[in-house]
Amino acid sequence: MKQKKTVFITGCNGTLGKKLVSYFLKKNFKVIGTIRKFNSYHQKSKNLKVFKLDMLKDNDFKKLVNNLNKTNTTIDVLINNSAIPSGSITEMTSIKNLKNVFEVNFFSQIRLIQNLLRFIKKSKNGSIINIGSISGLIAEKGFLSYGTSKCALMFASKIMAKEFRKYNIRVNAIAPSVFKSRMEKKMDKKIKQKFLEKSSTKKEIKLKSVIKLIDSLSSKNSGETNGQIIRLVNDFKI
Ligand SMILES: NC(=O)c1ccc[n+]([C@@H]2O[C@H](COP(=O)([O-])OP(=O)(O)OC[C@H]3O[C@@H](n4cnc5c(N)ncnc54)[C@H](OP(=O)(O)O)[C@@H]3O)[C@@H](O)[C@H]2O)c1
Repeated sequence: MKQKKTVFITGCNGTLGKKLVSYFLKKNFKVIGTIRKFNSYHQKSKNLKVFKLDMLKDNDFKKLVNNLNKTNTTIDVLINNSAIPSGSITEMTSIKNLKNVFEVNFFSQIRLIQNLLRFIKKSKNGSIINIGSISGLIAEKGFLSYGTSKCALMFASKIMAKEFRKYNIRVNAIAPSVFKSRMEKKMDKKIKQKFLEKSSTKKEIKLKSVIKLIDSLSSKNSGETNGQIIRLVNDFKI
């Protein structure tokens, strides 16, 4: 019998994270999801394992790796989805805020990849998908912390793609425009409008499109796509 593939998804209590879990369970994957706070969610399916992982907590990383070691886990797909939003102009941005945003959106993402690499190496066709953002490619006022943290993550994806090729692990990043979510609701309305105005539809992109792109990058069908930052936008004007 064909072995089920395993996908590891962070930020599974968030809008995109939740949808990704349901999507991959339907596709008959084994799903390992991480959340910051436990709730009834982990009882959802026998193919779903949920771990607590606050990206800012050393102990959570240690416990996670111990658990994965115990169960001799192989990870085929890693989706780095968790992130925090932040919006303020440079003059009003404290270094403390900048460091905190980088801690969650960049350093801890790299740390997770480093921690999980040994489990991904066991896959014959590993795929790492980092969720970046269009705001890490297009400079907009007020995006110093968030935009630069996503930019760093997307650029790091290109470097890791070169380094991990020898393990047959692909690394790509996606750069979506605005889609409806808990994070999007926290966006400054004027700034959000500015982003929407740049696209030909002047609307948010569909969550379904984000999932389809991630799905495609996770599969062998995109075996020739490596080290890429893929924009998910409608005719963006720079
Ligand atoms: N929505 C957009 O317009 C948009 C556009 C471009 C890119 N993105 C990116 O898409 C991804 C998904 O975002 P979303 O829109 O679905 O937002 P969301 O619902 O706010 O999801 C973000 C997730 O990250 C988790 N998270 C935040 N801080 C964390 C920490 N310290 N440790 C562990 N997890 C933490 C949150 O955990 P809790 O549930 O515990 O709060 C939440 O589950 C993010 O990477 C975001 O930057 C979003």
